[in-house]
Amino acid sequence: MRTTFFPGRKREYAMEPLRPVDATALANLHQDGFARPWSDGEFAALLEQEPVFGFAAREVGRPKAPPSGFVLARLAAGEAEILMITVARAVRRSGIGWSLMDAVLRELHAQRAESLFLEVDETNHGAIALYRRLGFIQVGNRPGYYENPGAGRSGALVMRRDLR
Ligand SMILES: CC(C)(COP(=O)(O)OP(=O)(O)OC[C@H]1O[C@@H](n2cnc3c(N)ncnc32)[C@H](O)[C@@H]1OP(=O)(O)O)[C@@H](O)C(=O)NCCC(=O)NCCS
Repeated sequence: MRTTFFPGRKREYAMEPLRPVDATALANLHQDGFARPWSDGEFAALLEQEPVFGFAAREVGRPKAPPSGFVLARLAAGEAEILMITVARAVRRSGIGWSLMDAVLRELHAQRAESLFLEVDETNHGAIALYRRLGFIQVGNRPGYYENPGAGRSGALVMRRDLR
């Protein structure tokens, strides 16, 4: 459970496992954070895959409200990767991204995974700061990996967190 304080109101968030029925809510939230949004069909197909798992941050006491953030990950043969993480713009910087990543790390420890990888746009300084604080180190880069509509290309950093 994560507790955050917004002006005049305390909000608590629970990190709950994702299910295929969450696909539409994830697609709606994803539109808020990325230039090329994934469709609900793409999320549904991912959530049907056996090695894919994830968590949604849900505000406690508002069961019908859409999730405030989510993370999707895949684990195969001891190696895991983050496929996607996003937090609704209005509630960023209140600890939800950290709590989502923490939920993934706990699950991977329980599964005795060896390492967790991710790719992040080299210009995404907020996400890179979060990953560094969580113990990720840069292990590679992919020049020109991302195409940014109207803003050219940017590289990806490949980051890894050892779990053993
Ligand atoms: C990246 C993202 C998921 C972080 O989620 P968040 O809930 O805002 O992050 P948190 O509040 O848990 O931040 C935890 C720590 O990470 C670091 N951090 C997070 N966002 C930051 C920012 N914009 N600038 C600097 N540091 C940041 C800080 O150290 C922060 O701790 P602090 O607030 O006590 O200083 C969120 O900004 C987001 O959804 N961005 C758009 C989608 C995206 O870029 N996803 C990543 C793709 S690889």
